[in-house]
Amino acid sequence: MNQPPTPENIMHLGMAFWGSKTLLSAVELEIFTILAQGPMDASTLRNQLGLHERSALDFFDALVALGMLDRCDGLYSNTPETDLYLDKAKPSYIGGFLAMANDRLYGFWGSLTEGLKTGQPQNESKDGKNIFDILYSDPAKLASFMQAMTDVSMGSSKAIAQKFPWQDYRTLIDIGSAQGGLIVEVGKAHPHLTGGGFDLPVTGPIFKEYVASFGLGDRFKFIPGDFFSDALPSADVLSMGHILHDWNLEQKKTLIQKAYDALPEGGVLLVFESIIDDERRENAFVLLLSLTMLIETTGGFDYTGADCCGWMKEAGFRETRVEHLAGPESMVIGTK
Ligand SMILES: C[S@@+](CC[C@H](N)C(=O)[O-])C[C@H]1O[C@@H](n2cnc3c(N)ncnc32)[C@H](O)[C@@H]1O
Repeated sequence: MNQPPTPENIMHLGMAFWGSKTLLSAVELEIFTILAQGPMDASTLRNQLGLHERSALDFFDALVALGMLDRCDGLYSNTPETDLYLDKAKPSYIGGFLAMANDRLYGFWGSLTEGLKTGQPQNESKDGKNIFDILYSDPAKLASFMQAMTDVSMGSSKAIAQKFPWQDYRTLIDIGSAQGGLIVEVGKAHPHLTGGGFDLPVTGPIFKEYVASFGLGDRFKFIPGDFFSDALPSADVLSMGHILHDWNLEQKKTLIQKAYDALPEGGVLLVFESIIDDERRENAFVLLLSLTMLIETTGGFDYTGADCCGWMKEAGFRETRVEHLAGPESMVIGTK
């Protein structure tokens, strides 16, 4: 006899925000950075974190049950995963993105229903301002956003450094370069390349400091500009990472056209970000990211590889292809 379906999956998904917020608070409290120094008993850990005694044990043990901490003989420690990725002292730290999710997205996502009904963003830009004007009016928010972008793009930046045929090209300019995460990974791996990062002037000092810290300041320069009001600079390869999904369809097509116009014959536009599967039924992460674009921007949305290839063809690119990078991310390559 067929068993009736159970409500387990529904409840698991419905209450998933409990676990999510527990992890985000743990990152905010820097529990993984503290435990990277060595295992600790509950009371030492509680004192270090400045927590009230009422729920500290539940909080620590919830993190154990969620697979984010280990506990052995009453001593808490990081798992290999959280030790590598959530200890602030390590270069592999990816907590910057989770910190941004905690500070901004967690609250704004509470108004998802309103966003779905109105089509309007649900962040500070409810008054029509663009997200970058808001973030960049506060130096602390600017710096934390730049760091978050480097963190979130690290897997793709490393994969692009490995998978793209850089030996065939001499110059690279990353459009919307933020801190320079892509430039640094590609520049370190391919010493023959030169170029730079193009972004809004306010991001210049952060780009220059990050790129110089890897000794790459002579090869990769900062080019200040606005990609809607200025022409794009020219290079053999122009890259756009996590740029197109911020903007509406008309703006996406404008940016692709501007890249096409700036490229030499044989040049390449390399678009990379999280890409929805062509059938729009498997990659839940990117479909939810696209809803985040509803929350955060006035017209942004994520798209499939087929969509992007279509826009590139419309702009005049003669060849296009999609190649998987890491996790939900892929690159779409258009050759002029
Ligand atoms: C979502 S971030 C992506 C950063 C980086 N490419 C990455 O993949 O990590 C978008 C970038 O576009 C830049 N940007 C936004 N509006 C811009 C404009 N009008 N002109 C130039 N850059 C802009 C932002 O400053 C930011 O660095």
